[in-house]
Amino acid sequence: MTRQPASKLLLFGATGDLAQRMLLPSLYGLHADGLLPEGLTITGTARSDHDDESYRAFAATALSTHLPADRKDDAAIASFLERVLYQPLDASSIGGFAALADKIGDTSGGLAIFLSTAPSLFRPTIKGLESAGLAGLNVRIGLEKPLGHDLNSSREINDAVAEVFPEDRTFRIDHYLGKETVQNILALRFGNTLFEPIWNARGIDNVQITISETVGLEGRAGYYDGSGAMRDMVQNHMLQLLALIAMEPPARFDGTAIRDEKVKVLRSLRPISSADAPSLTVTGQYTSGAVKGEIVRGYAEELERASTTETFVAIKANVDNWRWQGTPFYLRTGKRMPTRQSEIAIQFKPVPHSMFAARGGKLQPNTLVIRLQPEEYVRLLVMAKEPGLDREGVRLREVPLDLSLDTEFAGTRRRIAYERLLLDLIEGDPTLFVRRDEVEAQWTWIDGIREGWIANDMKPKAYPAGSWGPSAAVALTERDGTTWHDG
Ligand code: BG6
Repeated sequence: MTRQPASKLLLFGATGDLAQRMLLPSLYGLHADGLLPEGLTITGTARSDHDDESYRAFAATALSTHLPADRKDDAAIASFLERVLYQPLDASSIGGFAALADKIGDTSGGLAIFLSTAPSLFRPTIKGLESAGLAGLNVRIGLEKPLGHDLNSSREINDAVAEVFPEDRTFRIDHYLGKETVQNILALRFGNTLFEPIWNARGIDNVQITISETVGLEGRAGYYDGSGAMRDMVQNHMLQLLALIAMEPPARFDGTAIRDEKVKVLRSLRPISSADAPSLTVTGQYTSGAVKGEIVRGYAEELERASTTETFVAIKANVDNWRWQGTPFYLRTGKRMPTRQSEIAIQFKPVPHSMFAARGGKLQPNTLVIRLQPEEYVRLLVMAKEPGLDREGVRLREVPLDLSLDTEFAGTRRRIAYERLLLDLIEGDPTLFVRRDEVEAQWTWIDGIREGWIANDMKPKAYPAGSWGPSAAVALTERDGTTWHDG
């Protein structure tokens, strides 16, 4: 049954920020393009006291606020809202789940559940679902982060889920895996012969993964201050990107083969000991400054109190296996950076010998840039000779070989990552979801680093909003003779 499309979708957290900004617009996008199963109903649930009609009005407002103008179609919105139902529920007590089950009705056609709730509600929600008969063989569950704040708490949540939903019906979401360019890493690496022979420590000097954001706290103080950049971004999104870049070629494009390879990488991450944490990691917290010409407050001012939560982190990671011995992976992410940009820069090794040197020609090693957002492109920087008669020596210059996915696929609509993930959840394809062993390997590595921070009493270094983080982050790469690919 797990690979049959579900005929019903149940959304926990249906009035939350994620539902308004991402889930409802994504479901609408799928509906408008005729991709949702015929007759699929979408039942929202949350504490708020709505009935079907008032929740439809709520959903309509969310769509009108968050859909781009060219996607708004009154007829499609009206027919989408016909799918939508609502049942209020206090998930912390088991009492209301029977009414929820009544509202959902027959689940023999398959039920997909999407859980995006506070971590404290995970266990009672799972229990409630079980007690109300909403956890049978034809029910699968999608889980949105945060799934715990360290290995132990994530195990507790995963154990609670596993008591009711076996792993093959548990879909852990990392929305980066729903991004088109992230999936394109697979096409680039395993759909071409060109890169694989040099995709190792012999061919690659270092890998840099940057996710920089211009936003600050965005009103999420309650969650973010207890989390910080390490647990909010590195533990999940960045390590998933690292795993896709570093993994061995999977034999098949399916959830088992791909996740088997990813988990091997995650388990091969070299633990960062307490003694090494100060030299291999940098943490920062933004102070007031200017981002894109706008004056913004510092983190502590936004929070209205002092805090030791990091809003920036940079790490020099190593993957201890044959393929990657000696190639560092530099990771960097932060809030209130100068630009919003997510990219992976693969820095290849220099040529073994330059025949141009004696004639004054300078070579740069090749770089492959995979830009995930805001633009989507793959750019290979290669050396070219500048036109001329070279009387004063050979002039060589780095030029881009560009594959702009935005341009190349201009006729194809770019979808929200959640469109892909929600459809995969409804249809039961686990390939782009994170398996429990991956999550645990991720936490194991992250917890080790955080223990080092505590042992060394490391506090985040101040960096002005609108900068690329503390200067120590620059030193992290420069010590190795490398510079960050941008900023
Ligand atoms: C989320 C984090 O997982 O990812 C946010 O909780 C962050 O803090 C967001 O802003 C970034 O996602 P994207 O898709 O905008 O890069």
